[in-house]
Amino acid sequence: KKTILTGIKPTGQIHLGNYIGAIKPALALAQSDKFQPAYFIADFHGLTKIHDSKEFKQLSYGVAAAWLAFGLDPNKVIFYRQSDVPEIFELNWILSCFAPKGLMNRAHAYKALVDQNNQMGRDVDDGVNMGIFTYPILMAADILLFKTETVPVGKDQIQHVEIARDIAESFNHHYGETFVLPQYKVEEGTAILPGLDGRKMSKSYNNTIPVFAEPKRLQKLINKIKTDSLPPEASKDPSTSSLFTLYKEFATFAEVENMRTQYEAGIGWGEVKRELFEVMNRQLEEPRAKYNELIASPETLDEILLKGAERARAVSVPFLKEVRRKIGLSV
Ligand code: TYM
Repeated sequence: KKTILTGIKPTGQIHLGNYIGAIKPALALAQSDKFQPAYFIADFHGLTKIHDSKEFKQLSYGVAAAWLAFGLDPNKVIFYRQSDVPEIFELNWILSCFAPKGLMNRAHAYKALVDQNNQMGRDVDDGVNMGIFTYPILMAADILLFKTETVPVGKDQIQHVEIARDIAESFNHHYGETFVLPQYKVEEGTAILPGLDGRKMSKSYNNTIPVFAEPKRLQKLINKIKTDSLPPEASKDPSTSSLFTLYKEFATFAEVENMRTQYEAGIGWGEVKRELFEVMNRQLEEPRAKYNELIASPETLDEILLKGAERARAVSVPFLKEVRRKIGLSV
């Protein structure tokens, strides 16, 4: 079976962008019997940012609970913590010897930090640890170790998947066909879910809506979503409205069509926000309850994740041996 694989890093509360961009499409793909899904908590990636052990642990459990609350079936999906599969890290080193430094210089996340430093007149390397710099190599190891064919992600991760492909090609060129060349799969329409301020919803922009926010807070956050200042009676364009983008994700087809008509006829933003809250809360209520239950039981989460890591290692240990043999290392 072909592997589909994706990860989420524990650097904040799971937000709507993570859910719409990655969790929801990944769980839909997991329904198909054609694939072997492997979904994981990218805690080594999270370590590039979070250096408070208690918070870090809590955030990791949060990501695990979120996947499960949305219906991930650990019997079907190989579900694990990245740091419980040491072969990933071993492959990380091997791949780093095939990753041109120039390629890393061009990686978006690193470049964004450097650009920011330049803009603020700081030293270019301010606040940049080597984990951030080599981040795409570790991600390539995540993907290539499991012969991943498809990586369902949001648009911001496309470059990383392309880097994994480049590194795999370079390795294959030296040692013969070893790694499968992965492809990304991005949902059209919600490739970039907007946040409160209209920019990409992102932990680094502080504009997120946590997917499991309690109803009152959820409503408050929805009310904060930036809109233009058109009066209620003015006709509005759904295609440029963050509220509509979000509404589409949670409402039924009929509700969406109805909302579209209301946009054209003229509807006040306050009313749109109320209706958005209704449909969102309707869909999130159940997973939220499940999430709260799971988060209160870290032993259960550990048990599930360790079992998942065992399944992952049943694949990664023999494959890494093959890689070592090809390179000329001892096996
Ligand atoms: P992370 O933790 O930043 O985000 C997890 C997933 O959520 C998607 N996403 C979004 N999608 C649409 N709109 C948004 N506003 C939005 N914000 C986040 C991301 O695209 C991602 O799919 N490097 C990865 C984690 C990772 C990984 C991997 C992913 C590590 N190894 C291997 C795939 C395969 C990351 O930082 O995701």
